[in-house]
Amino acid sequence: MSEADTKLYQPDAETAKSAYVAGMEAYQALVAEAEADYEGYWGRLAKELLSWKQPFTQVLDSSNAPFFKWFADGKLNASYNCLDRNVENGKGDKTAIIFEADGGEVTKVTYKDLLERTCRLANALKAQGVKKGDRVVIYIAMSIDGVAAMQACARIGATHSVVFGGFSAQSLRDRIEDTGAKLIITADHQVRGGKQLPLKAIVDEALSLGGCDSVQKVLVVKRSGAGVAMTEGRDVWMDEALAGQDAVCEPEWVEAEHPLFLLYTSGSTGKPKGVQHSTGGYLLHAALTTKWTFDLKDDDVFWCTADIGWVTGHTYITYGPLALGGTEIVFEGVPTYPDAGRFWKMIQDHKVTVFYTAPTAIRSLIKAAESNEAVHPKSYDLSSLRILGSVGEPINPAAWEWYHQHVGGGRCPIVDTFWQTETGGHMITPLPGATPLVPGSCTLPFPGIQAAVVDETGKEVPWGQGGILVVKKPWPSMIRTIWGDPERFKKSYYPEDFKGQLYLAGDGAIRDAKTGYFTITGRIDDVLNVSGHRMGTMEIESALVSCTELVAEAAVVGRPDDTTGEAICAFVVLKRPRPSGDEAKAIAKQLRDHIAKEIGPIAKPKDIRFGDNLPKTRSGKIMRRLLRSVAKNEAVTQDTSTLENPAILDQLGQAY
Ligand code: PRX
Repeated sequence: MSEADTKLYQPDAETAKSAYVAGMEAYQALVAEAEADYEGYWGRLAKELLSWKQPFTQVLDSSNAPFFKWFADGKLNASYNCLDRNVENGKGDKTAIIFEADGGEVTKVTYKDLLERTCRLANALKAQGVKKGDRVVIYIAMSIDGVAAMQACARIGATHSVVFGGFSAQSLRDRIEDTGAKLIITADHQVRGGKQLPLKAIVDEALSLGGCDSVQKVLVVKRSGAGVAMTEGRDVWMDEALAGQDAVCEPEWVEAEHPLFLLYTSGSTGKPKGVQHSTGGYLLHAALTTKWTFDLKDDDVFWCTADIGWVTGHTYITYGPLALGGTEIVFEGVPTYPDAGRFWKMIQDHKVTVFYTAPTAIRSLIKAAESNEAVHPKSYDLSSLRILGSVGEPINPAAWEWYHQHVGGGRCPIVDTFWQTETGGHMITPLPGATPLVPGSCTLPFPGIQAAVVDETGKEVPWGQGGILVVKKPWPSMIRTIWGDPERFKKSYYPEDFKGQLYLAGDGAIRDAKTGYFTITGRIDDVLNVSGHRMGTMEIESALVSCTELVAEAAVVGRPDDTTGEAICAFVVLKRPRPSGDEAKAIAKQLRDHIAKEIGPIAKPKDIRFGDNLPKTRSGKIMRRLLRSVAKNEAVTQDTSTLENPAILDQLGQAY
């Protein structure tokens, strides 16, 4: 971004006046407060935003860095903070969730309803033998039951691990085994885009793959009622488990560091990591970022379109908005069903004021709107909107401008929020009433977050120069460890290169030479971001080579894609001669299906190219940087002097 063409969008006068963080001076005052007294700042906010059963006396314990502890001697309960205290504060009859089903049916639940539902579910879990510290895997679609299930786990001190409903039986099995879950909560089916898709059958398959002996019970929510196999003694219908359960359940007061949840995410090696989050620090940042980044007020209608299977759904559906006593939308369906006007229609129908979605969704809806006026935002009344948000991947300036103009009517600030599963909540983001916006930049760190751009030695680089994104100080909602693998946690996030002192985000970044604004330049490891979904290239390679009857070798890289941000591109060497024409197509389909089975449909490569070999160095190392150029159909301009088999580049280049 050159300075000359940097266009600043100033906060509108109304938001700049009424926002929780009103104006740049207010932002800077918070930054200064945190700099002057880091622990004092976070301690103050933890007292202001959360209700503690037992107050903490120490804010940050760094004695066993990088295994930092926050508010460690304090006790609280996340579900109490999200539900009971809102009821106690007179919000019992306020709508907590407006649920819209795939087919359009709307169900509203008040805080009182949600509390009762959560308590009954919590009591049902206890009746099934779940205790504090046990893990519960949740494999369910977007639903009130899904949110209540997470809250119920939190209520009794069980650690939930939600697995996105698009993951395969194999992926689900791996996560169940790694967590050692005692119980699984699922549904008979999920309904998306008018289609009924199995959930319970996938749980059955996962459990039949072995390694899941820890699982004693499976609770099954009836969504379709279409009938599924139930295993005697193991599987229980949710309705039956809930029958007769009391609508009151005393919360289990847990230590602030008690693991609230595990969420698996891809890293640069094959095995997904179980990111462990705490109760106190996590909930603080969930509530605080919801309050300041979305400026969430009592009369707002908030809609985060993410799935509860991802971290965005955890922080900005299940925890943040409820901790603030807000009203939010939970949507079961997809943005393109029954047509690509669904989001705009829902914003109109429910008078949504704050809307938070992913660039991929915006880009696909732009395409649809350009060819069909009926699904263009201008065909809907979107005047209720006041703030827009973006998350999960870089938003290209053209998509930003469209979102700003056509969805936000030119008046709504866009908060481009940079964060990660590991960070628990926003790290670098504009605040709507304070930060002048630049399309494509996530602007400045959230107050209290000390982000920096450094070189390989950990030294800060001058503004205007690209480098590695790090966080200099621990923050409350940071990842605590990788479940069962503390060494991997240390190596991945506090590497020796930086003397174990800096949190390594895994992204590259550059700060604008004049404003210091951050722009994320993409992952610096072997992680791809496809439609805002994080995928490890090694994971996909392992899945490919596990197709042992066909595949000899495989390498996976990303290439830019207009809609999905990045697309997965696989280079495959078969155990049989290199196929072409229809045979190549048929084998590519077989491999895609295999990957869908191993990981899930989201990991299917867009491009599969077959070669007699892969580009390798004399010592046999695959030269992925060359494959990245080939994937983009670019001429290879990099140094190829160490490449042993140069002819292979032509072959792979043509194999498209
Ligand atoms: O590469 C960054 C990208 O998404 C990664 C984190 O993915 P995940 O843990 O799945 O969490 C996604 C939802 C928070 C980051 O390392 N990313 C996330 N937000 C942005 C982004 N890249 C650019 N701009 C963003 N706003």
